[in-house]
This record gives sequence, structure tokens and C-alpha cells, in this order.
Amino acid sequence: MISNALTIALPKGRLLDRFQEHLAACGIRIAFEDRKLIAEDDSNTLRAFLVKNTDLPVYVHHGIAGLGVCGRDVLYESGYDFFRLLKFTFGSTRMCLATKREQADRAVPGHLTVATKYTRFARDYFQTRGIPVEIIRLNGSVELAPLLGLAPYIVDLVETGSTLKANNLTVVEELEKIGVYLIANPAYYKFNYRRVDTLVSLLGQRDVEIEDTGATVGKID
Ligand code: PRP
Repeated sequence: MISNALTIALPKGRLLDRFQEHLAACGIRIAFEDRKLIAEDDSNTLRAFLVKNTDLPVYVHHGIAGLGVCGRDVLYESGYDFFRLLKFTFGSTRMCLATKREQADRAVPGHLTVATKYTRFARDYFQTRGIPVEIIRLNGSVELAPLLGLAPYIVDLVETGSTLKANNLTVVEELEKIGVYLIANPAYYKFNYRRVDTLVSLLGQRDVEIEDTGATVGKID
């Protein structure tokens, strides 16, 4: 039997629990059992793929998953265009410039050296403001960079602030608020818009902001 379910990529990690709670509040239950990476809900509405969050845009861009749940940080780094169908109120974070606590009172130098996972964001952010920047790419534990002398500054996501605090770092400046979106592959949306819009209405009943006044579909800028 061919499944009629909409395909959706979900990110491993902290966003997954929050999205599953949101789905459950809307009457849809998806559980990944026994380390399985594919799951379908009981009502056959969604077929979900559990992916690493940085791979999520790749699956949606190639249409393997028609939909996805993803933070703007990861979407921006991917460079792909998607339709943004909903912005969730859960999972929001802040992209911040941070440094060692004792460095924070000193003026930020005219030329920055920054370690980050978010190299595209950091380069674009500082270049559009005319600030020369050297970017050092890391894949995780970015907070180590100022502590070990790799770079005096980091650009990283801050949610609770506890990772910065535990490592004696502090926010110098909040650069951008980062929301979590339901995204769609544009072609997938066009072929499946009735079913996708039904899902969007269902998910949009709770805890979301609709993107763009008067329309549910918006493009990542
Ligand atoms: C993210 C981010 C910070 C941390 C911030 O890392 O890069 O390190 O969460 O969260 P907090 O403000 O609530 O402490 P992640 O958990 O993705 O791990 P990583 O070090 O592998 O990037």
C-alpha cells in the first residue's frame, strides 16, 4: 500500500521533544522506537525522518522530505530557499557574540577574530556592517575557543545561557533572534498544498505565529 502521509524531517536533539509535545497537543503522536529513524503517526498524517539538524535542509531541498522543522540558524547556513509555513514559539534562541568575562568590559576591536559553527551567518553579519572579520570554523564546543586562546570571540546560539556561564564567558552583543520554522520544499508544497495547508491549520491552532500577514507561505530571506 502506498502511504499517503506527508513526509517531514525532524531534527535530533532538544527541538525534537518540543515538536513532539506540540504535535501531541494537536492530536498527532509520533514516536521513534528502538533507535528507528523513520516513524509514522497512527492516523497516517505524517511520515517522519529523524535527521541531524544540519542535514535537515539537505533532505528538504532534495525533496526526500517535503517538510521539515528547523531553526533559522541552520536554514541560513544551508543557503537553500524554502517556504516558511509557520514560526513556532518554542525553541527560540539568540545568536550572540560572546567572549571571556574579563574581556567583556574592553572595547570590541575593529578587526574581529571569531570562532563559530555559523560561518555564513557570522561572515554576512559583520561584512554587511563593514567590520573586518576572520572566521574560524568549529563544529561544536565552541565555548572552548576563547578559553584555550584559539579566538577571543565566538558567535554562537544562546538559549538558557548556562553553557556560557559555566565556562566563564558572557554575551557581548545579541546579533539576532533565531526562530524555529515549519518549512516546505517549494515544489512539494505546490503539489501537496491542500494536505499541507490542512496540516498547517492543525499545527497553527497552538503556540505558533503565522508568517506574513494574510498568507501562510513565506520564503526564507
Ligand atoms: C548549543 C550552542 C551552545 C549551547 C547553548 O550547543 O552551540 O553551546 O547549545 O545553550 P544554553 O545557552 O542553553 O547553554 P549544542 O547543545 O548544540 O552543542 P554543541 O556544543 O555540540 O554545538
